[in-house]
Amino acid sequence: MSSPTLIDNSITNNTIIWDKSSLPDKIQTFDEYKSLYTLSIEDPNRFWKMAAERLNWYHFPTKIKNTEFDYRTERGIDIKWFEDGIINVCYNCLDRHIEKDPNIANQIALIFEPDIPTDTHHHITYGELLCKVKKFANVLKKHGIKKGDRVTIYMPMVIEACIALLACARIGAIHSVVFGGFSSHSVAERISDCNGTIVITSDFGVRGGKCIPLKSKIDQALLMPECNTVKTVIVFQRYYGMENLKDDCVERRKTLEWVNGRDFWAHEELETVNDICEPEQMNAEDPLFILYTSGSTGKPKGILHTTGGYLTYVNLTFKYVFAYNPGEIYMCSADVGWITGHSYVVYGPLANQATTVVFEGIPTYPDVSRFWNIIDKHQINIFYTAPTAIRSLMAHNDSYVTKTNRQSLRLLGTVGEPINPEAWRWYCNVVGNGRCPIVDTWWQTETGGFMITPIPNVWELEAGSATLPFFGIQTQIFDEKTRKPLEIPDRGELCIRDSWPGQARSLYGNHKRFVDVYFKPYPGYYFSGDGCEIKKNGYHWITGRVDDVLVISGHNIGTAEVESALVQHVAVSEAAVVGYPDPIKNQGMYCFVTLKDNVLESDELRKELIKTVRDVIGAHVHPDIIHFAPNLPKTRSGKIMRRILRKIVEPDIHNLGDTSTLNDPTVVDELIRTSPRTK
Ligand code: WTA
Repeated sequence: MSSPTLIDNSITNNTIIWDKSSLPDKIQTFDEYKSLYTLSIEDPNRFWKMAAERLNWYHFPTKIKNTEFDYRTERGIDIKWFEDGIINVCYNCLDRHIEKDPNIANQIALIFEPDIPTDTHHHITYGELLCKVKKFANVLKKHGIKKGDRVTIYMPMVIEACIALLACARIGAIHSVVFGGFSSHSVAERISDCNGTIVITSDFGVRGGKCIPLKSKIDQALLMPECNTVKTVIVFQRYYGMENLKDDCVERRKTLEWVNGRDFWAHEELETVNDICEPEQMNAEDPLFILYTSGSTGKPKGILHTTGGYLTYVNLTFKYVFAYNPGEIYMCSADVGWITGHSYVVYGPLANQATTVVFEGIPTYPDVSRFWNIIDKHQINIFYTAPTAIRSLMAHNDSYVTKTNRQSLRLLGTVGEPINPEAWRWYCNVVGNGRCPIVDTWWQTETGGFMITPIPNVWELEAGSATLPFFGIQTQIFDEKTRKPLEIPDRGELCIRDSWPGQARSLYGNHKRFVDVYFKPYPGYYFSGDGCEIKKNGYHWITGRVDDVLVISGHNIGTAEVESALVQHVAVSEAAVVGYPDPIKNQGMYCFVTLKDNVLESDELRKELIKTVRDVIGAHVHPDIIHFAPNLPKTRSGKIMRRILRKIVEPDIHNLGDTSTLNDPTVVDELIRTSPRTK
């Protein structure tokens, strides 16, 4: 393996010209990477045309790239890739493989691994999956869903969730998946933002041995006036046709509320349709899905991804970064409710005709050997998970890992937050027996697919670094204060120069916010919201968020959302939420809460506030520390100075910075004195 010799990030210097007419199946050498990287930057039209040729189009695009990245121009931010191309995502994930080789109909597409390991796991072939997707697409059509309609999907991590996504893609409906942990309030917010008319859900889900009542959360959401656009709810039965239904699930099914004329059992509807359903011919820039993600301020942002560019990008990144070989078994532990589930459980793998595992459970149930047992059970070759999971499993005795075999593993991957070198080494040495490269992939809901990532066995890895940019990605760090670009090596705010096909095109119904959040901070660049250090050898080290978004256990949580949940409690007059470093979860959530006059502080109230946050946003959002603070540090104009709060909880109380603009500087001393983090 040749090591990179990148001086001042000049990957594009002295490289051999790429003179072939198509992309290789695998990147094998660093020279090959440099040559293709140079091409992707200097001639993006040629590079991405070759990438698009990896898919089947009804009409191959004659225009490849047409993008404007500077909001100050007359055109403004406008991103179009393959704009006259006609394509269908579902066709590319399923039909085309079988059309090319009818034997593929018998290849396993999805392996379902249920939450409870003794429950039946089932495999579903490409042929069966295609048939089920067509039938479900016909159910959607029967209920009036057509191209461009928004479909909210609120499902457990089961095969039917993947079927729902693919069925939407087949008929050109825009899916909006909401993670099953979100509360009815959060689902309602997301349904109303996109004016959805239909919800696909399940009677319940099972996670960590617990029954999660999904349908009843939808019932509650739909009582809210902002959701009166919803006319239809299609309900899958978890454990449909299975005998060993858990007792509490049986009870729940009996007590399920049912609104006649609105609610329909999926299994009954499926009996009324056939399996003939031609894919809708979609323009490359037609929307494929909306996925909500937390922002620094305000409501969650409906990230909008479109069809041709997104699929081209996830297809190529999956292929190269996992160096996928036909026949290999791949598992990504993410839920389909997050972007990782969209791009690297469903679309990327299936577009590459891979066999991919759909895992319903959590890494610690029934015990902390779960992942490693699954790897042995299904002989998994490529395993992709989050640093949080690795750190929480690492905290237990290594024997939970070493008692399993794991010889099938070839490659390991991580995503979601920075991985500390210690966890990286444990993953590499204990889980991978020192044999498997680790791909630490940096990317975001907004980027659609991997942005900064190793390509295995092509350059050397460094524990904790996402290493180098993927094809077409030009990184630039900026100084937060001077707003000027930085020369490397240095550390600054991470931006991307110029467009790539997988990026989000807008925020659903709010292009202005899209421009404000991502393109105004550094004109001419996409602003990631992350900090990054780029070392002399060009390697990238992500340092974490630079805005008011927390990344806790791989999930993005906007502090503003938590604050607004807290103030919904009658006892609270004001709240300020900040993150602090946590050795397992990446960040912990610290809530400063000012109570109303005459309300007494108590542990009981603390519990109630935690419950309020979980009820309002979702069960995966959990405040770690509630600090009752009679006063918060504010500027004279009344703005809470979060910078100071962050320093207090870090704790880094000797570097508070300028406190002279504070209305009452003694407030800070009082908070330091009473904070559990500074004791
Ligand atoms: C963080 C998940 C360091 C980062 C795909 C980013 C990472 C946010 C990494 C996006 C990584 C993701 N190293 N940090 N390899 N991957 N992040 O939208 O802060 O759920 O901005 O997308 O996760 O989270 P999102």
